[in-house]
Amino acid sequence: MRYAPFLALGAILIGGTTLAQPPVPEVPPGLSAEIKASRAAVQQFSTTLKDALQTAIKNGGPVEGIAVCHDKAGQIATDLSTQLNMMVGRTSLKVRNPENAPDTWELAVLKQFEARKTQGETVDTLEFSAVVTDDQGQKTFRYMKAIPTGTMCLSCHGTSIPPDVEAKLTALYPKDTARGFKEGDLRGAFTLAKPLP
Ligand code: HEC
Repeated sequence: MRYAPFLALGAILIGGTTLAQPPVPEVPPGLSAEIKASRAAVQQFSTTLKDALQTAIKNGGPVEGIAVCHDKAGQIATDLSTQLNMMVGRTSLKVRNPENAPDTWELAVLKQFEARKTQGETVDTLEFSAVVTDDQGQKTFRYMKAIPTGTMCLSCHGTSIPPDVEAKLTALYPKDTARGFKEGDLRGAFTLAKPLP
């Protein structure tokens, strides 16, 4: 609530394309097609996952939802990666599944998102992209989009997780650190990568 006036401003700044000076130089020139494709991929991934999660929770509660996240999230990401010919995944500063741990570039972007959030930008619209070149000279387009914590996330990522959910999570993820989030927190980010010719 403290950030309410800034949030509105942040939405305008990020959402608008006509502004001469965006808050950070996040769109490399000539990459608008990749950015557009990335936004669409994130939208598709997010909707597919949320729909599956919501259905499972409606039918069997959060414990049932865990199965979706555990069994299906990875599969949806893999299917989408094949379909779109780009790596699609999720990461966070506090991961549940160690396989989702950020690499160096992702870690820096996640920290940048937290800093931008602190400065008043709204989590919903935080995104960042760049072209990175590895040791072999291979160029890769990389894109990340922030994932905010919503109310439906709290039963599994919040501060007071129901005991049956907690027990199941601990059994599946003994190294779980993805708890204690509050609504509006940066839960993590979608992360995409596409090798460039
Ligand atoms: C029913 C329990 C449940 C709910 C509700 C839930 N999650 Fe998760 N979440 C999980 C599980 C389990 C994983 C681990 C998935 C895996 O093994 O890759 C996970 C992983 C994640 C990850 C990947 C990074 C990591 O920590 O491994 C993100 C990001 C994430 N959740 C965000 C959300 C958001 C945002 C919401 C609300 C829209 C949400 N989750 C709701 C159970 C849940």
